Amino acid sequence: MKIAVLRESVATEKRVCIVPDSLKRLAQKKIEVVAEAGIGLGASIADADYVAGGATVEPTAEAAIAGADLVMRIRIPTVDEVQKLKPGSSLVAPIYPLVNHDLVKALAAQKITTFAVDAIPRTTLAQMMDVLSSQASVAGYCAVLVSANLLPRFFPMLMTAAGTIAPATALILGAGVAGLQAIGVARRLGARVEAFDVRKVVKEQVESLGAKFVEVDSDEDAQTKSGYAKEVSEEYKKKQAEALARHVAKADVVICTALIPGRRAPVLVTEDMVKAMKPGSVIVDLAAEQKGNCELTEPGQTVVKHGVTLVGELDFPSRLPVHASQMYSRNMEKLLFHLTKDGALVMDQSEEITKGCLITHAGEVVHERTREAMGLEAAKKEGAA
Ligand code: NAI
Repeated sequence: MKIAVLRESVATEKRVCIVPDSLKRLAQKKIEVVAEAGIGLGASIADADYVAGGATVEPTAEAAIAGADLVMRIRIPTVDEVQKLKPGSSLVAPIYPLVNHDLVKALAAQKITTFAVDAIPRTTLAQMMDVLSSQASVAGYCAVLVSANLLPRFFPMLMTAAGTIAPATALILGAGVAGLQAIGVARRLGARVEAFDVRKVVKEQVESLGAKFVEVDSDEDAQTKSGYAKEVSEEYKKKQAEALARHVAKADVVICTALIPGRRAPVLVTEDMVKAMKPGSVIVDLAAEQKGNCELTEPGQTVVKHGVTLVGELDFPSRLPVHASQMYSRNMEKLLFHLTKDGALVMDQSEEITKGCLITHAGEVVHERTREAMGLEAAKKEGAA
């Protein structure tokens, strides 16, 4: 099997989905790589490194696609990019099919076998393929460094001849992958760290990293059987807002990472809470892509409101392209090994991981939840009636 890895049209994207280090392991499984020239420049990888690892380098995306059975991308492809794929070929990329319906229609129309990396189930078995986790971990790390850079104060406590400096207080909202990484990094920089999550089970993990868990006076636990967070009750939200208002007001830095899969991010920091923060404080809202945990976040922007710097940037993993690419590439190796045998795609659509991330195949939208979101199930029932 030949896979093509292409340069991204998003100017800020520096990551690549396959690094030269993966080429030998892929070749052992009869998977060859065709790279578009210049793909690795942002991640300090030269074309010659790909060639030395056994890949072919083509001058253009068109030439790379022409020689490949499968295209791999690190960014959501545009409809235009989909229309340039070979009909009947495969694609591995972020798709977010529950909301990007035009893209899914274009993929089905082009008869592409599409695997959405964002839809890989977050199970123990699939952990090694989970790019959302590996990239969220990079984002959690970067978020703390960005906040430390913008904060007009030290993070650690310092005892100097010029007096004692009190440590900064960092509040982390959401203690999933990004949140736990952010807690660890903020602690290592010497901040006093507090964290909050609606899943009570993470309290122990938060405390084991040296942070204080913010309690909400309620018995409600928002963890589903599969381990994800679900929407909390209105009564819980009220108590949560009261508790958070006190902690946000004291925080120098707030890192927002709260997410409910497939939903708008929960609003945890209101405008009134921002107004109550000390001038110069910083909020980094990693949930900006899902409209933010802070109601004043502007996705893709850094703005100052009521004296507080609000960071809503969307490219954190790309700011650490070497390691973000290395982790992404390892995830992709494992996914490709799972989906292929002797260099050919094997698709067992009843198997959990394949079923979870296969979106279109042979001109049809085959992913159940996507079909529901696009109203295709209803249309099928009406047709049958
Ligand atoms: P995750 O699913 O591992 O963690 C989210 C956490 O939020 C869970 O622990 C969940 O229990 C918690 N949560 C849900 N509702 C909550 C509420 N009402 N209050 C408090 N906690 C709540 O997600 P992960 O992978 O850590 O990602 C976090 C965020 O970072 C996502 O929004 C993701 O899109 C974003 N992200 C942003 C990037 C950027 O460049 N801006 C890059 C990578 C990830």
